[in-house]
Amino acid sequence: MSLILGIESSCDETSAAIVENGSHVRSNVVATQIARHAVFGGVVPELAAREHLIALQPVLKAALCEAGVGLQDLSAIAVTNGPGLMPALLVGLNYAKGLAAAHRLPLIPTNHFIAHIYASFLDHDLQILKQPETYPILALVVSGGHSSLLLINEQGEARQIGCTIDDAAGEALDKAAKLLNLGYPGGPIMQKTAEKGNPEAFHFPRPLTGTAGKAVPPEHKYNFSFSGIKTALLYHVKKYEGELSDSFIADTAASYQEAIVDVLTRKAVAAAREFGARTLVLCGGVACNQPLRDRLQKLCPAESALRIAPPKYCTDNAAMVAGLAWHSLAQANDALGADAFARLPMITSVPFIGNRRGTA
Ligand code: KG4
Ligand code: ZN
Repeated sequence: MSLILGIESSCDETSAAIVENGSHVRSNVVATQIARHAVFGGVVPELAAREHLIALQPVLKAALCEAGVGLQDLSAIAVTNGPGLMPALLVGLNYAKGLAAAHRLPLIPTNHFIAHIYASFLDHDLQILKQPETYPILALVVSGGHSSLLLINEQGEARQIGCTIDDAAGEALDKAAKLLNLGYPGGPIMQKTAEKGNPEAFHFPRPLTGTAGKAVPPEHKYNFSFSGIKTALLYHVKKYEGELSDSFIADTAASYQEAIVDVLTRKAVAAAREFGARTLVLCGGVACNQPLRDRLQKLCPAESALRIAPPKYCTDNAAMVAGLAWHSLAQANDALGADAFARLPMITSVPFIGNRRGTA
């Protein structure tokens, strides 16, 4: 049996988790900094770093305690080393390095973006990853920093077939909530506000979908663009005279969310069809969005098995980091020199498929 400690600090969540054999989550403790950043209307990187510094030790203790294990029981320590906010990443990475060195444990630097995809396999039998009928996998990764479609084959080779050319979906929701004075983070608040509104009350653009009579350039077939929706919202609010009424705000939130859900679903379903995806994964913080989950469930092609993790594994957490790292355990070596990286590199493979298994 292998127990891996995961540490996550790429943005505004400090998390530690213990995961057994790559899938069984023994504990997953998340300390959120939302209240600290809310007053600024967004994440302040240096403040995030300071908060991680304070939270890491108690979060680690809680994760070990909840799992009923000690550091001596661990096989390795996994840590997110990118992409993310550099000051925030460095705190978690250096903390993990210190812990690994002091306890003579292998350190496994882990990619946060791939970990989001892996989250949909947590608490499940990993046999599914060995079955040919699972492939290809199409993953729609939607978070505060990413909106991407990644195609993964049976060998673990990956190809990004689309991504946002400007803002991410979560960013578009966060900025809209700020503009409507609803607070931070925007995604959950927009969803709640939208529940009382009519999604057809107003029309917001669906960029790069060809719906406005504008042909989509072939290179943008599976790309996203959310900055135009945001600008449309700005004009929509400016046009409204006087104080914004509750019903206007609810209808606006519902219509805006609808535009984002429509674009994301439309492209994911079309890509799943074109590439014959046998598995469609929806992941990342925006995957918590209930209307998005429902819409994809409804429109997912019959040939694709839909996998959406429970919300606790969609937003940033360390369980997805520890789970993913198990697949690299057999190759883990001295990674104490590992660096952090802010931006997503080109993904050409994922470590959780193929014969790169960890040792159970
Ligand atoms: O994956 P995540 O926790 O952090 C990043 O890696 O970015 O995603 C955070 C994003 C934020 O933009 C937040 O507004 C969005 O996920 N989010 C949601 C919901 N819950 C979180 N968006 C829509 N609906 C939700 N219920
Ligand atoms: Zn994330």
